[in-house]
This record gives sequence, C-alpha cells and structure tokens, in this order.
Amino acid sequence: MRTLPPRLLLVISAAFAGLSVITLVLLSAAGIVEPVPAIQIAVSLVILATAVVIVTSVRRTDGKALRIDARTKRQDAVLIRTEQTLAQVAATLDGLTGRLEEAGRHQARVLLSALGEDRMELTAQADRLAQLTSAVTRIDTTVRQSSADLDDVRKLRHDHEQLTGLTGTAVQAVRDIGERLDTLGGTVRDGQAELAKSVRQNYAQLEALIDIRALLQPRAPLPRLRGWAASPDVLRLLIERIALDRTEIIVECGSGSSSVWLGYALQRFGGGRVVALEHDERFAEASRDLVIAHGLRDVVEIRHAPLAPWATGTPGETIPWYDTSAVEDLTDIGLVFVDGPPGATAPLVRYPAVPVLLPRCAADAWIVLDDTSRPAEREVADRWLREYPELSGTAHPAEKGAMVLKRSLA
Ligand SMILES: C[S@@+](CC[C@H](N)C(=O)[O-])C[C@H]1O[C@@H](n2cnc3c(N)ncnc32)[C@H](O)[C@@H]1O
Repeated sequence: MRTLPPRLLLVISAAFAGLSVITLVLLSAAGIVEPVPAIQIAVSLVILATAVVIVTSVRRTDGKALRIDARTKRQDAVLIRTEQTLAQVAATLDGLTGRLEEAGRHQARVLLSALGEDRMELTAQADRLAQLTSAVTRIDTTVRQSSADLDDVRKLRHDHEQLTGLTGTAVQAVRDIGERLDTLGGTVRDGQAELAKSVRQNYAQLEALIDIRALLQPRAPLPRLRGWAASPDVLRLLIERIALDRTEIIVECGSGSSSVWLGYALQRFGGGRVVALEHDERFAEASRDLVIAHGLRDVVEIRHAPLAPWATGTPGETIPWYDTSAVEDLTDIGLVFVDGPPGATAPLVRYPAVPVLLPRCAADAWIVLDDTSRPAEREVADRWLREYPELSGTAHPAEKGAMVLKRSLA
C-alpha cells in the first residue's frame, strides 16, 4: 500500500492540528468550551498528528528499505549474470587470442615469404639502380668532358673572332696604307710633274738669261731676275721686239732690273729712251742707282709717279694708278711694258695703262702685259681687247704669263 509522503503528511497533520487549535480557541472564546480542556485537546491533537507523522515516516522508511533490498538482490543477480557473461567473453577471448596468434603467425609467415620475394626484387632493382647510377656517372663524365670541350671550342671561337678582328684591322690598315700610298703616289707624281715643269722652266729661264746676257753683255752686276723682277723669258721677248722694230720710245710701268735690260737693248739696237714709272720713292731711287751703275743714265729715266685715283669713266669708280702728269710729255711710244703697279695695290690696278698711254702710242705700238697667269691681269687684258678694237692680242707662254698686244690703226 502506497503511503503519503512524510512532508505532505506533516503539512496535512499540522493543518489539521492548527485548525483544531483555532477551532478550540474560537469555541473557548465563545464560552462554549472551557479553556483548559480546550488546551488539553489541542495538545493531544498536536501529539496525535505528530505521532501519525512519525509512524507514517517509519513505515515509509521500512518500505524504502525493502525496496532497496529488492533492488540490491536484482543487482546481485545482474552481477552474477554479468560475471558469467564476462567469463564467457574471457573464454571467447582466449579462443580468439589463440586464433589470432595462429593467424598472426600465418600472416607473419606469409609476410616473410612475400618479403623474401620483395627483397629479391629489391636486390634486382638495386642492381639495376647501381647500373643506372654507373651509367649516369659515365654520362656525367661525358657531359663534363663535353662541357670542357665546348669551353675549348668557345675559346677557339673567341680567338678566331679576335683573329678575324685583328685581320680586319690589319686589312683596314693595309687599305689605309694603300690609300696613303695612292695619295703619296699622287703627291709624288704631282711633285715629279711640278719638278719636271720647274726644271723645264728653270732651263727656259736660264736659256733666256744666257741669250740676253750674251746679246747685251751687262757692264755691272744686276739684281736677280724672277720673283718681284721680270723673268728672263719676258725680257727676251721685249728685247726681241726692240731688235725687230728698232723701238725708240719705251714706257715701263714699274721700275727695277727690267729698266736696265730695256736700256741695254735700246743702246744695242739703235738708240732711244726708256721712261720707267715708279710709284714708290725708295724703289725709284734704287732703280736710278742701278741705271747709273750700268752707265745707262742717258737711256733710262726713272720717274717717280705716286699713285693717284684714276677715274674709269663709270661714275664714282676710280682705280689707283701713276699720276698721269708723269706721262703728259710722252708721244709716239713704240713699246709699253706693263709690270706695275704691284697687283696687291688694288683689283685691276694695271687697267688704266692702256686708256692713259694708248693715245700717246705710235700707230704700230706694242703693249706687253706681264703676270697674266693671275686672274686680275687676265681680266685686264680681256677688257683692253674688248674696249680697244685697234688692239690684237697673243698670249705668250712666259713663266708668269704674258699678253702681247699689237696696235694696228687703220
Ligand atoms: C713687278 S715689280 C716691277 C719690277 C720691274 N719691272 C722689274 O722687272 O724689275 C712692281 C713694283 O714692285 C716694287 N718692287 C720692286 N722691287 C721690289 C722688291 N724687291 N720688293 C718689293 N717690291 C718691289 C716696285 O714698286 C715696282 O714698281
């Protein structure tokens, strides 16, 4: 039989006892029950309730002990069954262990046998590996040798390239030398040509000098010809002209050695006089001394004629030339030798000679212009020939070039 829980029972008993006490108090207060018996009843009720609670608790504890006992018995039975089961399991495990050991031994035998086969295979593979390693070592040696050979080849190629470069440089140097030799050859050929020309020229001048010396036999030493002075070939040309035409009046533009030679020629071929115009006082004096030294005072007159602007006829254009008053007294000039003023004085500085002197020349006069190898003198000759139709000109291959002009008045 199920009993109420002690705590609920205690509450119910306490509530019952409390209600009973309150009822007794109310009854006692109403005078229905006497206080003392009421208290006795109340205490009795409380004791009773307490006893009920205690009994109930004891009974409940007993029930609980019984149930624990029964449960313990059940658990014991379970334990026994468990022990039995464990014994069975242990027996089973023993059997399994035996079988496992047997299986293990079998597996070990199988593994050992397999391992033996694998070891043989591994040994074979190791042998193959050793062979491969040896082959790789041989290949490595070959590769190293090939690499060394390749280095040698590279070195050889480098040497070859350097050699090619050197060969190129050498070839270029040889070419340069060849070109220099060509240039040198050209220079040598030019030099040879120049030398040959110079030898021919020297011979021609020497020949001319011997001719005029033999012909005129100067009485005193003469300054060197050529250079600033006229060359022997042009002097011989003038002397030939004098000899042929028996020229009497000669005008020379620019004094010097030529003045003396022309004086000798006049003296030798019939007589006459030379008027030499000289713009420079010092050279005029030097030329006079020369004339005196050669005893030609009566034949050669050196006239100092400073340069003055000469009007060309074109408005504002002048050319420096000898002061024209120095020639005002001259007429019937048979030969004019134009060898001054110096070319460096001004462009076309020798041009005025013909415009000034031609009106004072004989009808069959000759004009010789020196230095026509220079462009300025060539231009002067060209202008004369253009502007004076009575003049005809012949270029003479003198050392410095000369233009021989002949006046022919109709
Ligand atoms: C070409 S030179 C004329 C020389 C002259 N016809 C002769 O043959 O000896 C022209 C001018 O040069 C000047 N001259 C002459 N001798 C010179 C000299 N040794 N050095 C520099 N100028 C000179 C004079 O003023 C002369 O008139």
